Amino acid sequence: MRQTLTLLGIESSCDDTAAAVVRGMAGDAEVVSSVVAGQTELHAAYGGVVPEIAARAHAEKLDICIEQALSQANCNISEIDAIAVTAGPGLIGGVLSGVMCAKGLAAATGKPLVGVNHLAGHALTPRLTDACEFPYLMLLVSGGHCQFLIARGPEDFSRLGGTIDDAPGEAFDKTARLLGLPQPGGPHVERSAEQGDASRFPLPRPLLDRDDCNMSFSGLKTAILRSRDAVVTEKSGLTEQDRADLAASFQAAIRDIFIVKTRRALALYLAEVPAAPVLAIAGGVAANKGVRSALESLCLDMGVRFLAPPMALCTDNAAMIAYAGLERFAAGQLDDLRLSARPRWPLDTTSPSLIGSGKKGAKA
Ligand code: KG4
Ligand code: ZN
Repeated sequence: MRQTLTLLGIESSCDDTAAAVVRGMAGDAEVVSSVVAGQTELHAAYGGVVPEIAARAHAEKLDICIEQALSQANCNISEIDAIAVTAGPGLIGGVLSGVMCAKGLAAATGKPLVGVNHLAGHALTPRLTDACEFPYLMLLVSGGHCQFLIARGPEDFSRLGGTIDDAPGEAFDKTARLLGLPQPGGPHVERSAEQGDASRFPLPRPLLDRDDCNMSFSGLKTAILRSRDAVVTEKSGLTEQDRADLAASFQAAIRDIFIVKTRRALALYLAEVPAAPVLAIAGGVAANKGVRSALESLCLDMGVRFLAPPMALCTDNAAMIAYAGLERFAAGQLDDLRLSARPRWPLDTTSPSLIGSGKKGAKA
C-alpha cells in the first residue's frame, strides 16, 4: 500500500526565500502551506539580482519562512516525513544557504534529507497541481532557462531543444530595463503591452526557419534597443504609448517564437503516441497571459490538453520542491549530510548541451 507522506520543502536558488508543506503520494498530493518571501526591493537599486545580497537575505529569512510554513500547515516538525531542499542549479550562495539550513534541520531532528533539482521542481508541478500522468511535454520558461522536455518519470527527462542564448525571462527583464520599467520586468512589460500596438515595431523572430526546437532571444533586445533609440532620437524621449507599443511588439515576437517551436516540439512528442497527450508550462514566464492563451489555442488545434499551473506555482516557490522531494522520497531516493550545492545541474544529461542556455546563471 502506498503511504501518505508529508514533506517540508525549502527553496533559495535565486531571489525568493520559500518554504512549504506538501502532503500526499506521488501523483496525488496537495499543497498544505506555501510561504514565499521575495527580495525585489533589496535588488531594485541594482537593476538585477545581486548574488551576495540574495544569499545573505536567504540566510536571514529561511528559518522565519520555515516556521511560518509549518505553523500555517498546523504541523510540528516531528510530523514531517522528510526535508526536501533545492540543491541546484542556481546562484551558489543562495543554494548553499538553503542546503546548510536543511542539513542543520535534518541533523537536529533526525529527519531524512532529499536534495531536489530546481528544474525538476518546475517540471513536476503539473503532477502536483493536476495529477498529470507521464509522459507529458513540458515547456519550462523562466528567468534563467528555456527548454522543451518530455517528462517520462520523476527523474527521467528528455530535452527536445531550448534557447541557445538568453532565457525569455531575461529578455523580458532586459526589455523592461530599456523601457525604464521596474524589475523583475516580465509583469511590467505585460501590463504595459496591454495598451500597445504590437504591429508598430517589426522585430525579428530568429531561428523560425530552422527545423528544430531551439530558440534565440538575445537578438530581440538589440532590436528593442534600436527601435527605442530611433523613437528617442526623433521625439527626444518615450511617451507612455511608445513604451506600450514597444512592449506589445516585443511580447508578440516572443509569442510567435513559442507558437512555432511548440508546434514542432508537440509533433515530436505526439509521434510517440502518448495515451493522453498534455502540454504543460512552468517557470516565471508561464505567468504571462499572452503566452498562455497562445499556447492554449495551439493545443486546442492539435488535440492536446493544456495545463498551466496557478501563477503562484509558476514562479519560484517551495511547494514544487517539497513535491519533487516527495516523488524522490517515495522512490526511496534519499541524500545524507554529504549533499552538496550545485550551481549547474542539467535535467537531461544525455542530450548535448545547448550553447548558452541562459547567461544570467543556470537557474530555472
Ligand atoms: O521561474 P522564476 O520565478 O525564477 C527563475 O528564473 O528561476 O522566473 C522569473 C522570471 C523573471 O525573468 C520574470 O521577469 C519572469 O519570470 N516573469 C514574467 C512574468 N512574471 C514573471 N515574464 C513575463 N510575463 C510575466 N507575467
Ligand atoms: Zn525557477
